[in-house]
Amino acid sequence: MTNTIILAAGKSKRMKSKKTKVLHKILGKPVIKYSVDLAKKINSEKTIVVVSPGAFEIENLLKGDVAFAVQNEADGTGGAVKSTVDKLIPEGDTLILYGDVPFLRESTLLSFIDFHRKNKNDLSVMSGIIEDPSGYGRIYRVDGELKQIVEHIDASEEQKKIREINTGIILVDTKLLLENIDDIDNDNEKGEYYLTDLIEIFVTSSKKVDAFIVEDYSECEGINDRHKLMQGEEELRKRINFEIADSGVTIRSNSVYIGPDVVVENDVEILPNTHIYGNSIIRSGAIIGPNSYIENSVIESGSKIMNSTVYDSRVGENTTVGPYAYLRPNSNIGRDCKIGDFVEVKNSNVGDRTKVSHLSYLGDCDIGNNVNVGCGVVFVNYDGKNKYRSSVGNNSFVGCNSNIISPVEIEDETYIAAGTNVTKKVKKGELAIGRVRQENLKSWKVFKK
Ligand code: UD1
Ligand code: CA
Repeated sequence: MTNTIILAAGKSKRMKSKKTKVLHKILGKPVIKYSVDLAKKINSEKTIVVVSPGAFEIENLLKGDVAFAVQNEADGTGGAVKSTVDKLIPEGDTLILYGDVPFLRESTLLSFIDFHRKNKNDLSVMSGIIEDPSGYGRIYRVDGELKQIVEHIDASEEQKKIREINTGIILVDTKLLLENIDDIDNDNEKGEYYLTDLIEIFVTSSKKVDAFIVEDYSECEGINDRHKLMQGEEELRKRINFEIADSGVTIRSNSVYIGPDVVVENDVEILPNTHIYGNSIIRSGAIIGPNSYIENSVIESGSKIMNSTVYDSRVGENTTVGPYAYLRPNSNIGRDCKIGDFVEVKNSNVGDRTKVSHLSYLGDCDIGNNVNVGCGVVFVNYDGKNKYRSSVGNNSFVGCNSNIISPVEIEDETYIAAGTNVTKKVKKGELAIGRVRQENLKSWKVFKK
């Protein structure tokens, strides 16, 4: 595809939200990202997102991936496309998508593109046949041939009975689009520039236009309010879960949420109340859940994540995480490890076969292989201003309730006695012990009131 225009300007009042509707998330992914990714999948050379002035959040989310056109006044879909003309590659085809239509399948879009090209159309519209067409633009045909799209508000009583409607998705020859876009006027009930007026303009000048009736209209539904957000998310959730189940994965509940870009290999088992989002990959044989939340992370084969939260991290093969562990961004856990209950790891590397069984904080550290980190160990990485890193070498033992006061280096095969505050380097093979000596006093007084 030469150009893809994604329309995302205008207000979204029905959401009753400070945020525009296209930034609300469905299965962990902002609604507009679905359209942007779809454009990527069909190899769009240039993708332009049309936004209202001041749409910084959309621009921040998508910058680098797309170009932006600002539609200064919300004067209709025609006005939106007009705002892109100086950014279009002036050849090939231009596809118009909506930023609030996240359910369209790549296969459906490819069939539509195929229809357009095989029939050598100058303009094609994706249409749908629905029970209740009110509010939509009607596909007006004469003897089966597309003549016009009539907006609901401008339609005659007879035209209002038409159940074939415009989904909004349009594919058009770019040169013809550029030649004709300025002929759209706003002489209609709404006083808007309707992109759909192009159809009549093309028909009048004997261009080839046609409508492609989509099989499953629900793919083209927009997210206008929270009701649709809930309903749509639920439908997509089922669609994704059944596809994943069919590929050889056991999903043991209706309360499993898996994002559209997650890869789940076969023989994975996913237990209730689990969310897996972003670009996560769950490798064969892993068991995820119950009650787990995983985002942008890789869980290698045979690992178990139980009652735990994992962000932007990697968990090696046959490692167990949880119950009640928290892996924060940039944590890399080796294979055959144990990250036990109430352990928090952040921006740290943990080597193979290392055990951190209970109640510890590993922040900004590099821990080797075969290390035992005892209960209640804290890597003291923050002095109130700066963060520091520490390291622990292979085969070391960090006793319970030690504080590793960063930055400090603990070499291989060392032993940190329980309750030690480690403030200086521990060399290979050494025992570090630093605690206040216990004194048992015979003469002492209990403080009494
Ligand atoms: C539009 C179509 C209608 C179709 C319906 C499908 C026109 C004139 N009408 O209706 O035929 O049945 O979609 O849902 O094209 N947008 C802008 N700038 C604007 C106005 C809209 O970028 O000034 C964007 C919106 O963000 C949205 C899309 O265009 O993504 C559709 O806008 P919306 O107001 O929902 O469409 P309608 O005009 O009601
Ligand atoms: Ca402690």
